[in-house]
Amino acid sequence: MTAYIGKRVSRVDGRAKVTGGARYAAEHNVPNLAYGFVVSSEVARGKITRIDAKKALALPGVLHVFTHENTPRLARSDKRYRDQVAPPGSPFRPLHDDEIKYSGQPVALVVAESFELARYAASLVRVEVEREAHATDLESAGKQAYRPKKRSGIDRPPRPRGDADKAFARAAVQLDAELRVPVEHHNPMEPFATTVVRDEDGRLTVYDKTQGVQNVQNYLCNVFGCTKNELRVISPFVGGAFGSGLRPQYQVFLAVLAARQLKRSVRVSLTRQQMFTFGHRPATYQRVALGAKRDGTLEAVIHEAVAETSRFEDYSEVVVNWSGLLYRCDNVRLDYKVAQLDLYTPIDMRAPGAAWGVYALECAMDELAVKLGIDPVELRLRNYTERDQNEDKPFSSKELRACYLKGAEKFGWARRNPEPRSMREGDTLVGWGMASGVWEATQLPASVKAVLTADGRLTVSSATADIGTGTYTIMTQIAAELLGLPIENVTFKLGDSSHSKAPVEGGSFTASSVGSAVKAVCHKLRAKLLKLARTIDGSPLAFAGPDDVTFADLEIRSCWDPSLAVSLTDVLRCGDQGAIEEEASAGPQPNQKRYSRYTHSAVFAEVKVDRDFGTIRVTRVVSAVAGGRILNPKTAGSQVLGGIVGGIGMALEEESVIDQAFGRFMNHNLAEYHVPVNADVHDIEVLFVEEEDEVVNPLGAKGMGEIGLVGVAAAVANAVFHATGRRVRDLPITLDKLL
Ligand code: MOS
Repeated sequence: MTAYIGKRVSRVDGRAKVTGGARYAAEHNVPNLAYGFVVSSEVARGKITRIDAKKALALPGVLHVFTHENTPRLARSDKRYRDQVAPPGSPFRPLHDDEIKYSGQPVALVVAESFELARYAASLVRVEVEREAHATDLESAGKQAYRPKKRSGIDRPPRPRGDADKAFARAAVQLDAELRVPVEHHNPMEPFATTVVRDEDGRLTVYDKTQGVQNVQNYLCNVFGCTKNELRVISPFVGGAFGSGLRPQYQVFLAVLAARQLKRSVRVSLTRQQMFTFGHRPATYQRVALGAKRDGTLEAVIHEAVAETSRFEDYSEVVVNWSGLLYRCDNVRLDYKVAQLDLYTPIDMRAPGAAWGVYALECAMDELAVKLGIDPVELRLRNYTERDQNEDKPFSSKELRACYLKGAEKFGWARRNPEPRSMREGDTLVGWGMASGVWEATQLPASVKAVLTADGRLTVSSATADIGTGTYTIMTQIAAELLGLPIENVTFKLGDSSHSKAPVEGGSFTASSVGSAVKAVCHKLRAKLLKLARTIDGSPLAFAGPDDVTFADLEIRSCWDPSLAVSLTDVLRCGDQGAIEEEASAGPQPNQKRYSRYTHSAVFAEVKVDRDFGTIRVTRVVSAVAGGRILNPKTAGSQVLGGIVGGIGMALEEESVIDQAFGRFMNHNLAEYHVPVNADVHDIEVLFVEEEDEVVNPLGAKGMGEIGLVGVAAAVANAVFHATGRRVRDLPITLDKLL
């Protein structure tokens, strides 16, 4: 029995969020705050020949207009601009020189006494540019695609095994498909913003919207040449991010620049339109070729992907590797290239790489199933693998088979008529589709500090983030459980660069990484407390070892005789200490290298398509997820649910459309960039198939941030085919493509 771990604990930060008590980056108010507004380039490529800010500066209350011409010299080497998550290359430097690298690039920052004034003054700044020809179309640039430089933490495609091309050519049944996924923007509810508060000594407190306070702090200190003592980054609440906040965005640079120069507190917030002026999910096209025997046995898998990157950085993701991992096959060839465009460098967006790589594979598997006349679930079971053939390793745990079976049962898959267009309700075509999902289960080094005071209150802290995922809650649960405290006695703090070291929150590795450090620090505290308890005069636990006691109800208690107990208050009092404090780190163990560590899912979707109008509704989704031990079914379930909603958006709605003449995203607002709203989201059910996994990390939890999205777009696309008999291979599947 556990008190908190594995329980549906509601968010500990929920009250603050729904009452407005949670303050976001642009909500920290101080007296004498100045406001910056960004002037964005209207041109995709060229050289700035003149910036005329006279009219703006003439307005009373306008303080300064920053441009590349008056920005002080900052760090020179690329290295100083490279944050922890930066791909190889030369990171973009705001207001660095006269060069325009992409449409929407910040070319000036107007600072004024009010936001409205800054915004108006920004409209008066004239930027003259000598235009150069730009290229923003992936299809044309794809010919120059190349294999990107290795990005740290991103595995390259494995070497080919067997001879996939020969095996494909000889296969009894062949499927060769090309698929496209457009640019998508994260569009979190909270736009990027930074409030820099400057104290009299010139020290800066930077309230920023970010997934990594220490990443931002390191970047700013490197670029501006200041010490960590002089610049602290705080971000306790983040209104969604989905990866967009993994790297420092340009508004944080501009806000710090202005605060240092003007010796004032400054806020810079971006508009929704400007949320389309930095990283995004890259535009991509891919080929998947599958060869199989008549019984469905896969004989060849070929997966080639091309994605966009910028001219200045080699952005890459794990895209095609999944195709060598998910099914047993001895002839596999995977290739992944990038092509440079005059756009900003893409950035990780929820399940980067897998979202679109697994989409392509899983749609191709569905097409193959149709060709073979085999049920799509059955085809996947026939090619099930117990071993990761990419790396020739066993899985630390893999309950994907159970996901297929339980998901199918819950969904009612057995009642599916395999014939396309066969399931109807009047004028509505009903389609059922499914797909597999897979994501990494990673652990990174992280540290945590804990302070227990004599009143039985525990404060645990780490410089991680909670981007809506439930970090606050699960860390609180782990600590309360391990020290036997009521959950109200535990406070978890995060989002402050002065906290113990933690990685950015991303990659679904926070529960695993920071959670393991919380566990480690609690074990240190337990050891210290027991040691003190044994020294109390006449202690009932004088001879107890760590395995002889439990921590519950604010007591240390003998496992053998619960009446033998010492209260934590007495322990702290006897130690004559107001508080005890510990810090601990946890990180990957050598043993993990012997196993492949992944989360898996099986996604089932029902769509209803209007026969005449082609409108699509996703009426039902069942996702069965194997993600190790579930720390909190409520927050984990919400993660998967949110991922599914993202997947529905990817399948049917999301697309950032470039006008190639301007090289610019045209639908840069939430009226024209569509995301699912309540009316688009119907019945969603999440099932967990729990796994015992002692390899992934000391908690056995695999992480839930991304797996919910993987496979969803494919399941929906496959359902649309089943409903209509039309195979749309380029996302999003809009009604015009169906008619
Ligand atoms: Mo996630 S795309 O690593 O925030």
